[in-house]
Amino acid sequence: MIKIENLSFTYPDGTLALDGVSFEIQDGMSIGIIGANGAGKTTLVNHLNAYCLPQSGKVIVNGIESSKENSEKLRKEVGLVFQNPDDQLFMPQLIEDVLFGPMNLGMEKDAAMLEAESVMRELDIWRLRMKPPFNLSQGQKRFAAFATVLVMKPSVLVVDEPTSDLDPRNRRKLIRLMKNLKSTRIIVSHDLDFVWDTCARVVIISSGKPVAEGGTKEILSDKNLLETNGLELPIRLAN
Ligand SMILES: Nc1ncnc2c1ncn2[C@@H]1O[C@H](COP(=O)(O)OP(=O)(O)OP(=O)(O)O)[C@@H](O)[C@H]1O
Ligand SMILES: [Mg+2]
Repeated sequence: MIKIENLSFTYPDGTLALDGVSFEIQDGMSIGIIGANGAGKTTLVNHLNAYCLPQSGKVIVNGIESSKENSEKLRKEVGLVFQNPDDQLFMPQLIEDVLFGPMNLGMEKDAAMLEAESVMRELDIWRLRMKPPFNLSQGQKRFAAFATVLVMKPSVLVVDEPTSDLDPRNRRKLIRLMKNLKSTRIIVSHDLDFVWDTCARVVIISSGKPVAEGGTKEILSDKNLLETNGLELPIRLAN
């Protein structure tokens, strides 16, 4: 279970990005986090694996409270696929990026390779394993970033704008993948049709605060609520 209690965060330049955020996420839940550009979604999810540390308030995942000391423990629970895949890929060859996490946790190379192969085949990027990540296409980078996280088998998977560079077929593939996962899933997306297809619940963030939470269909069908918060109906409901 994830508990966020009165979490606030101000960037060094004085921008208040999170302003007293509280909510809970039950185990196994798939939840969409939506909101206009600059609402604070990325800042919020960057707190879930201690990439950002709480300045005030608390983040507790499976009983582990986020803090500098607990950051390694928290990262074993929570896998975060960054909004920008270039932030996730840094080794000379893709396979090294995917092996990095498991080997860093002490797994032998042969065992880590088996895990990496299985995840990369599922994502259809095994054939790209020798390539330098910076030479991959945008969509390939997106799946590569997913592989570095899924290979760790996190109990909580957080994805930030996962569909922004996927073609329609790969977008559908990602919908299937997200639906089949048993872990807790937190999906930040402007693609409200993707959220509709993959999330049981939705939270709307506006100016660093949750302003509405509910069942996906209820929230995403509420034109007034969406428009008040700088959003629009999913394409399937428009017109
Ligand atoms: N490193 C930073 N330094 C200063 N301000 C920042 C930094 N990162 C984000 N911000 C500011 O914090 C606020 C929230 O940004 P955040 O990236 O969390 O929004 P978002 O909801 O993820 O937006 P988007 O939909 O565009 O990805 C914005 O006003 C942004 O300008
Ligand atoms: Mg963002």
